[in-house]
Amino acid sequence: MSLFNHPFDPAREAALVTGAGNGIGRAIAQALTGEGVRTVFADVNRDTVTAAVAASPRPKLAVPWVGDLAKSAACDALLADAQAAVGQVTHFVHSASPPRREADHALAVDTETWARMHAVNVDAGFHLARELARKLIAAHEPGSFLFLTSLHADTPRNLPHYSTAKAALAMLVRELAKTLGRHGIRVNALVPGAIAAGGFVADPALARHIPLGRLGQAQDLAPMALAVLSNRVSAYVTGAAIVVDGGLSLTNWFEPPDLGEL
Ligand SMILES: NC(=O)c1ccc[n+]([C@@H]2O[C@H](COP(=O)([O-])OP(=O)(O)OC[C@H]3O[C@@H](n4cnc5c(N)ncnc54)[C@H](O)[C@@H]3O)[C@@H](O)[C@H]2O)c1
Repeated sequence: MSLFNHPFDPAREAALVTGAGNGIGRAIAQALTGEGVRTVFADVNRDTVTAAVAASPRPKLAVPWVGDLAKSAACDALLADAQAAVGQVTHFVHSASPPRREADHALAVDTETWARMHAVNVDAGFHLARELARKLIAAHEPGSFLFLTSLHADTPRNLPHYSTAKAALAMLVRELAKTLGRHGIRVNALVPGAIAAGGFVADPALARHIPLGRLGQAQDLAPMALAVLSNRVSAYVTGAAIVVDGGLSLTNWFEPPDLGEL
């Protein structure tokens, strides 16, 4: 059997993707249905999640779910609804994150914006992952979880609510990977660079800092996300942070060197 032709086992695997209404989450959720995996598309925005489901390669495998994951009751409802719709969730992707505004620097960001950023990224991510893990452990089933973190888990972004939430998420990935590995549940981080999706208002001038010469697209993330999620392709990968950034993190925002006439 070809490894790459069958990265998933749709007979016993099913996925839940948060933030699936837009951007990177949408691209990953749609790609999962393209691989035949029943996938719950969860988002706070009804219109975008409906459109994302309709535009999936196999809409019949895509289940829309609408709710505000800043609320723990909504997370519990999502867990119950996902189980009812697709059965045991074996693959979990946490991409939901509130919009970020450049004006929310350290001296300006208000308490509510700070709390919401942490609630959606960290609190919801932890709550959903832990409950899904408990179910998998009880069923003696393997699983694979993927969290969208950021280069700004390590580097300040002038948005402290965002960078601290992503730093917490990066450590959560490692904590969960260490604890859940013995139960066959792998937990990894996907670290995007500058991706022209909804969460990032891309300045095209940024491309000059990127060795591969262009901003990323949400579709640039989906193949690597699927590779890391797949228990066949990445069976021995856990606790890893997979950077997909066109080399942006190599430049540290300095101009690349002038190599002269080679
Ligand atoms: N785009 C980038 O350059 C970039 C870079 C680094 C990290 N990331 C991370 O990747 C992930 C996806 O980024 P994106 O650019 O696709 O973002 P996006 O804004 O396009 O998508 C995020 C989705 O999350 C949903 N969402 C927000 N709050 C929610 C809530 N309370 N409950 C449920 N859903 C909610 C939004 O409606 C939206 O559909 C995010 O975690 C982001 O921080 C993105």
